[in-house]
Parts: sequence; C-alpha cells; structure tokens
Amino acid sequence: MFSLENKSVIVTGGANGIGASIVKEFLKENAKYVAILDIDEKSGKELEKDLATKYNAEKVKFYKCDVTNDDQLFGIFHEVAENLGVIDVVVNNAGIAHENMNTYKKEIAINYTAVVTSTLKALQLMRVDQGGKGGTIINISSIAALQQISPYLFVYSSTKSAVLHFSNCIGKETYFNRTNVRVLTLCFGVTDTDIFHKYDSFDDVIKQAVVKITEYHIKNNLIQSPDIVAQGVVQAYKEGTSGSTWVVNNSKINNITNSIQLAYKIMSKI
Ligand SMILES: NC(=O)c1ccc[n+]([C@@H]2O[C@H](COP(=O)([O-])OP(=O)(O)OC[C@H]3O[C@@H](n4cnc5c(N)ncnc54)[C@H](O)[C@@H]3O)[C@@H](O)[C@H]2O)c1
Repeated sequence: MFSLENKSVIVTGGANGIGASIVKEFLKENAKYVAILDIDEKSGKELEKDLATKYNAEKVKFYKCDVTNDDQLFGIFHEVAENLGVIDVVVNNAGIAHENMNTYKKEIAINYTAVVTSTLKALQLMRVDQGGKGGTIINISSIAALQQISPYLFVYSSTKSAVLHFSNCIGKETYFNRTNVRVLTLCFGVTDTDIFHKYDSFDDVIKQAVVKITEYHIKNNLIQSPDIVAQGVVQAYKEGTSGSTWVVNNSKINNITNSIQLAYKIMSKI
C-alpha cells in the first residue's frame, strides 16, 4: 500500500475538471506539495488561492504552463525538484477533445506527445538506477481507449489508446525493477467537466451526434462527478502495481489489468 502523505506532486491540466479534483484529493491525503500546471491562468490562480487559504500557501502553487512547450514543462520540473528536493508523483492529466482540421494536431500533441515527454522527464528525475528516489507516474487515458468507437471521437480515442499502450509497456515489471518508478494508467468514463462542452470535430454530423450523446448522459444522470474520479485515482495510487490499468466508470473503480493483458494475448496470436 502506497501513501500520498508528505509527497511532492505535479498535476498537469490541474486548474479545472478532473485535474482540479485530483489536486484537492491529494491535498486531503496530506501530500506535502502540489504544483498545478495549466494554460488556464484565471482558474489556476483561483484554485491556488482557495487551497492556500484552506491548507497553507507552501503546499500549493499554480504554474502557467502549456504541456506541449518542453522549455516551460522542464523548467517547472527542475524548479519543483530543486525546491522540494524530490518529485514523487506526476499526474499527466491535461487533455482536450477538439479535433477539427485546425486542432487535431494540437490534440495529439497535448493528449499523447506531451504525456510521453512528461513521463520520460519524470522518469529521468525519479529513477533509482540514475540516482533518483523512485516515484509514481499516473497517465490519464479513457474508456474511449478500450473500445472501437465509431463514428465519434476518432483522434481523441486513438491518443488515449496510445497513452494506454505506452504507459502499460513502460510500466512493465521488468523495467520497473530497474527504475523503481511505477507507471499507472487510469481510464475514465463520461465525467461532468467542460471537456465535451468544448468538443469539436472535423465532421459536423459527428459533432451533433456527440452533443446528443453528452446531453443524453447528463439528462439520464449517467455522468460521474470529477471528485469520484479523483477518489479512484487515489485508490489506484495506493494499491496499483506498476503497469496496472484502472477504470473509473459509473462512479465505480476497477482494476482491469488482467483484461488488458488477456486482450493483448489474444491480439498477438497472429
Ligand atoms: N470528462 C470526461 O468525460 C473524461 C473521460 C475520460 C478521460 N478524460 C480525460 O481526463 C483528463 C481531464 O479532462 P477533464 O474532463 O477534466 O477536462 P477539462 O477540460 O475540464 O480539463 C482539462 C484541463 O487541461 C487544461 N489544458 C488543456 N490544454 C492544455 C495544455 N496545452 N497545457 C496545459 N494544460 C492544458 C485545460 O485548461 C483544463 O484545465 C483529460 O486527459 C481527458 O481526456 C475525461
């Protein structure tokens, strides 16, 4: 069982939605310090102010950061590592579902490339075989990665599948035994945040269909709260072995590592 007590944490996309709930849950669990990285300065500063009042100004800091900008991201990683002496946990949560012709490359860059970059950077700073103290990286995927969704969020789903594959493989026990850095994957179901209200598609028919599905979920109360999702993240952090995959869907958390491994066994019987 792992504990968040006294841990130094970075959460990307932490100013709103699920990320903001993760920041709050981690502080409830007595994390020593949480850095909130986000492009949304207004929400980030407000959250920082609220949490500094509730806890202590030393425990929380907002950094304006675009996760696709390596200089910004690495600068903050180094600052946190220097100030706190260690980074124990990185949650790669920033994500968008915006896939029109002008934005799909950005979607891939935020949802996948930046997750890889941040994971590799965290690993470099944490790994015991290179002088680090070990740690945990939590990468955010989606139930969209677990199904062949069509005709809806093609690009979004594929970025989340890529996150699942990358995180499962880099988290495997054989590699973990060298690094002592756990890599966990969390797949969320439909959650009450702004992400789908900001959704856009290259195809208007698909866009209208996704809007209808979102409305259906809201109307029929099939949408879980970001706080429940964040509690699932805490449970996965406490119990998860490296390379494990967890789902938080319909307000329930499940460890689906065995199903994922079985699926890959079936797929590799070629
Ligand atoms: N809401 C859902 O139904 C759902 C389901 C499955 C997975 N997810 C995943 O959960 C994560 C959080 O999403 P959410 O639902 O809370 O959405 P959200 O839109 O409420 O929050 C996303 C946050 O990421 C930030 N962000 C966007 N681009 C950024 C960038 N370039 N650099 C730094 N920060 C950036 C936004 O400003 C925002 O604060 C995402 O990875 C999303 O794909 C969400």
